[in-house]
Amino acid sequence: MNPTRLEVTHANGRYPIMVGSGLLSSTSLLSDLLPAKDLMVVSHPSIWTLWGGRLLAGLADRRIHHHLVPEGEQHKTLDGLAGIVDAAVAAGLNRDCAFIALGGGVVGDLTGFAAACYQRGVPFLQVPTTLLAQVDSSVGGKTAVDHPGGKNLIGAFHQPVGVVADIDTLTTLPDRELRAGLAEVIKYALIMDADFLDWLEAHLADLLERRPAALEYAILTSCRHKATIVGRDERESGERALLNLGHTFGHAIETGSGYGEWLHGEAVAAGMVLAAELSCRLGWLSAVEVGRIRALIKRAGLPCDPPRLGAARMLELMALDKKVLGGRVRLVLLKRIGQAICTADYPDDALRGLLEDLTGMQG
Ligand code: GLY
Repeated sequence: MNPTRLEVTHANGRYPIMVGSGLLSSTSLLSDLLPAKDLMVVSHPSIWTLWGGRLLAGLADRRIHHHLVPEGEQHKTLDGLAGIVDAAVAAGLNRDCAFIALGGGVVGDLTGFAAACYQRGVPFLQVPTTLLAQVDSSVGGKTAVDHPGGKNLIGAFHQPVGVVADIDTLTTLPDRELRAGLAEVIKYALIMDADFLDWLEAHLADLLERRPAALEYAILTSCRHKATIVGRDERESGERALLNLGHTFGHAIETGSGYGEWLHGEAVAAGMVLAAELSCRLGWLSAVEVGRIRALIKRAGLPCDPPRLGAARMLELMALDKKVLGGRVRLVLLKRIGQAICTADYPDDALRGLLEDLTGMQG
């Protein structure tokens, strides 16, 4: 299968997103993107075992070093970042090296942040192997680690030199991770593409059965939307915040439950339901539309209900969100299906009432 190429433009240039099959072992594709002789591949042990060999085949003429990090959001920490830097120093890597992130969102965020910091910045390539990373986290240059007090609180914008999304890697993705990725796919439909929501409702079974054509269409549609938004608002001074539908609630769920308990996509799914419910209470979405969103998320095998952390705890966690402005939490809500807004203009009682009803009074 020939790869499909999309472009992301940013303040300092542009880079391709390549989507297709058999890309990992494509020497020409990887060589074009990575002229560096010394490469540091960061991955998880299981992904390295499954897919590292293919990547090495595509980079046979380079000096490859690798560093493996344990799986799970609980490892996306400053210690995890230090491990990558230690490995790069031990390998004697200079500023003319490049890093490669081979894995999901945790590997991509850690590697990208390490690349932003190492020797004040080295190039890095995103090679996402999960659906979530292929449709969202590998594109757009957000890199970060978590803090015990909040998700992604320490990080940098550092754009990759490219994104190589080989859909073959999805054949070994655990079911739970596939479903978590679907949450971010559904997100694009809800915020900006009502027709895509129709398509998702019609083709969800194909996606769950991992039919390559359906996966490729969903990845390309998602990446096209993400590339458009990042191209217009790289640093999230406006429109890019819309990509955070469900994330303010979702990050609070992840932090409050303990990193690694809920997958990011699961927390975003429950967060999108909360956002839809609040949009309904504000008179923007109908109960029928909220039911439609809930039904799709449920069919995707994702949670619709948040954990019972309690309204006070949820509000405390949400107060550290990066969209807080002037002490007020801005929320991404839905004016209608396919049209999102980021707003601080909602009654506090409506948010508190929603959280009390759906996450409990205590906490
Ligand atoms: N995942 C949201 C963003 O990249 O802006």
